[in-house]
Amino acid sequence: MFRLAFVAMGLVMLTGCSTKDNGAATTSEPAAIAPILDRADARDQHSYARPLEARVYHVALDLDVDFAAERVAGSATLDIEAAEDAREIVLDSRNLTIRSITAPDGSALDYSVGEGSEELGQPITVELAGHERIVIDYVSAPDSDALQFLSPAQTAGKVHPYLFSQGQSILNRSWIPTQDSPGIRQTWEARIRVPNPLTAVMSAPSAGDPVPDGPDHRIFSFAMDKSVPPYLIAIAVGDIVFRPLGLRTGVWTEPAMLDAAAAELADTERMITASEQLFGPYRWGRYDMIVLPPSFPFGGMENPTLTFLTPTFIAGDKSLTALIAHELAHSWSGNLATNATWADFWLNEGMTVYAEQRIVEAVYGEEAYDQAVSLSLDATDGALAELERRDQVLAVDLAGRHPDDGFTDIPYDKGAAFLRTLEAEVGRERFDAFLRRWFDDHAFEPVTSSMFFEAVAEQLFDGDEAKIASFGLREWIYEPGLPENVARGNPEAFAEVDAAVVEFDGGGDPAALGWADWNTAERLRFLGKIDTDLSDERLAALDRAFGLSATGNNEILFLWLKLAIANRYDPAVDRLTRFLTSQGRRKFVRPLFVALAADEEWGLTIARRIYPRARPLYHPVTFQDLDQMGLDAARTGSESTQS
Ligand code: BES
Ligand code: ZN
Repeated sequence: MFRLAFVAMGLVMLTGCSTKDNGAATTSEPAAIAPILDRADARDQHSYARPLEARVYHVALDLDVDFAAERVAGSATLDIEAAEDAREIVLDSRNLTIRSITAPDGSALDYSVGEGSEELGQPITVELAGHERIVIDYVSAPDSDALQFLSPAQTAGKVHPYLFSQGQSILNRSWIPTQDSPGIRQTWEARIRVPNPLTAVMSAPSAGDPVPDGPDHRIFSFAMDKSVPPYLIAIAVGDIVFRPLGLRTGVWTEPAMLDAAAAELADTERMITASEQLFGPYRWGRYDMIVLPPSFPFGGMENPTLTFLTPTFIAGDKSLTALIAHELAHSWSGNLATNATWADFWLNEGMTVYAEQRIVEAVYGEEAYDQAVSLSLDATDGALAELERRDQVLAVDLAGRHPDDGFTDIPYDKGAAFLRTLEAEVGRERFDAFLRRWFDDHAFEPVTSSMFFEAVAEQLFDGDEAKIASFGLREWIYEPGLPENVARGNPEAFAEVDAAVVEFDGGGDPAALGWADWNTAERLRFLGKIDTDLSDERLAALDRAFGLSATGNNEILFLWLKLAIANRYDPAVDRLTRFLTSQGRRKFVRPLFVALAADEEWGLTIARRIYPRARPLYHPVTFQDLDQMGLDAARTGSESTQS
């Protein structure tokens, strides 16, 4: 019954959305997205929102950042477009304390907070009573999933506290009560009150200089007039400074990090130029970056106008800056054309890895491209060998699962392989024109796998069923495994290193190999390919020859520590301990703890010694899985309380 009414309202929206006079300062108009959200594969299972009935199109935040209480508190004013007969709107939330929900005139609105679920949080249903704007007064919980408050000791400067957020995938509902679905785009603005002398930055242009608020605080203002999926709303507050790197790009970070960060990011402007040549104009104005404290749980996060970065990408030689190409590429794939639901995450990430590789080629040349492609194919093969069949599918079925269950190398690297294979099939010129058109046609809109299928079928295969079938288009998007027409890339990409692998595996002396002349990709290939069963003597020889324990390159260090754990190599345990207690990037931390914990006689004890010390550094994204592994005696009870 209810479903039918829901669809009927969708039709009302399609045929006649009235433009509303909100009687207030905001100017944004709701965009006509209802036709896309009505598609079967655009229904988001990870949000309680019913956007065809009523949806948020603008959010105005007015928040105080309370470092002592580790909360944000204040109001979210939501502009709403509702179908004519819609009486209520449903929002997402997680552990928020709602103080009131009112109309702009101050009159209270009826609302209820549903029980919700552990995975999705709690729906808030608000009776609209004819209003198109509502004001929610609220406070976030001290253990908000999205927010990490850092003590001064956890920063580089050691004097001031720090706050940053991470919204993707469904974390922002823990500090912003809105419809937290990637298909429901919203413009937004914010006023953020922070204690002196801290600076607040957000994923939006600044809307004027900060203004003093009393003797001890300042208010920073931001306004994003382009509609974004709400997971891209982000904030950082700390003792941070800015240095320009080019006309439209620059870096924020703590003063102690500024020189190193700026040097590492020196190629950014060239990457933007290359990206525009490939994918069309950069539509977001500025492209700034912030290098966060080491607990940032990801390598990077593509928050619009302000990419968030881990400091662990700083190697001193710009060798890990494909990360920047990646986050920048999301300015097209992901931020302009956005996966409508997390089941189509590959449309964000696969397209971005493909684009990243193209940017790397344009800026660093053919060899760097061939090597990046080859490493990406290695990752694809590795993922296919490990994952169950249902998780090998690009358009993954996430029914009843958390979006993070789809966060594997499949959307990233099989996704990129798919696009590279399409490119090989139709030629670069034609494929590049297709991609540009895809971004133009879907700028500021949600996209789905079926939309991509249709665009490829029509624009690259001329609607020819025989061509579509012989390429395996449906198989690529909807089936597990790797179609055999996959474009394998240049087999010579690592010719020299692969010969060295054979040499080493046959007992050769590592000191006689060409390590010193290899670039980072070659070193990663070597450490990823050699036989992993090594004696203490061989490990010691490797470390001596390549200086692995002392490397400043965290990707190399990570592979070295994995080898060490696999062989119970005691001399590496100190370095391992330091690594796990000095940064919280999930990609590094999780596999190392998993490997330790799997070795009950040797590693588990080590993991149990390190984890209680390391955990206070980590963001919830990093510690939530690990807490389930029984590594912390003080927390082992938590396993049974999870439903
Ligand atoms: N958008 C992702 C990070 C992300 C994905 C956060 C899903 C939460 C849920 C970001 O663009 C990313 O892919 N980062 C990678 C970088 C890499 C592939 C170059 C990372 O953090 O390792
Ligand atoms: Zn990405």
